Amino acid sequence: MALRIGDDAPNFQVETTEGKIDFHEWLGDSWGVLYSHPADYTPVCTTELGRTAQLGDEFASRNTKVLAVSVDDLESHQGWIKDINETQNCEVNFPIIADPDRVVATAYDMIHPNASATATVRSVFFIGPDKKIKASITYPASTGRNFAEILRVIDSLQLTANFSVATPADWVQGQDVVITPAVKDEEIPGKFPKGHTVIKPYLRMTPQPDK
Ligand code: BEZ
Repeated sequence: MALRIGDDAPNFQVETTEGKIDFHEWLGDSWGVLYSHPADYTPVCTTELGRTAQLGDEFASRNTKVLAVSVDDLESHQGWIKDINETQNCEVNFPIIADPDRVVATAYDMIHPNASATATVRSVFFIGPDKKIKASITYPASTGRNFAEILRVIDSLQLTANFSVATPADWVQGQDVVITPAVKDEEIPGKFPKGHTVIKPYLRMTPQPDK
């Protein structure tokens, strides 16, 4: 069954390129990004894994661990990592799950039979420290993911977990945010001392509270 926002992120124990992992234990108190790759030695996936490695400091600064999954085996992954490091000028330093039995792919509904009976689509699951699904994005195999968007979603999730705000269209760090409708007008000065603007009674903006 498809996983939805707010659902428990299924746990699993798997072999990865960094050793055996119990997913929930490995996450600890971190946020997590779990994302799928249709197969090893494929061009788009090679660029995506390279980009993830290049952005290692960005994920770390967001207290976020990244875990990739591909249905090929460990030996295949290890050989592929050498190619990724060579061609993408990076050092893959995060685990890639070997999922030949499609345990993770099935638990996270990453195989969409009307796209392919065997290969995963490009799923991205954002998982909170409480091990709940916070967001997900799905792309077809032919569309490489936008990692600026993945980092932006993490920023939004982490901000909105801590403040009564939501992030508007195309928001990025440092821009004004929306005060959620649950906040009463009279509560705004106490909750948002940096000030606010009422554009419409339902559209109230405030500077990003943690900047
Ligand atoms: C790729 O990663 O390049 C890819 C994988 C499956 C289908 C199309 C592209």
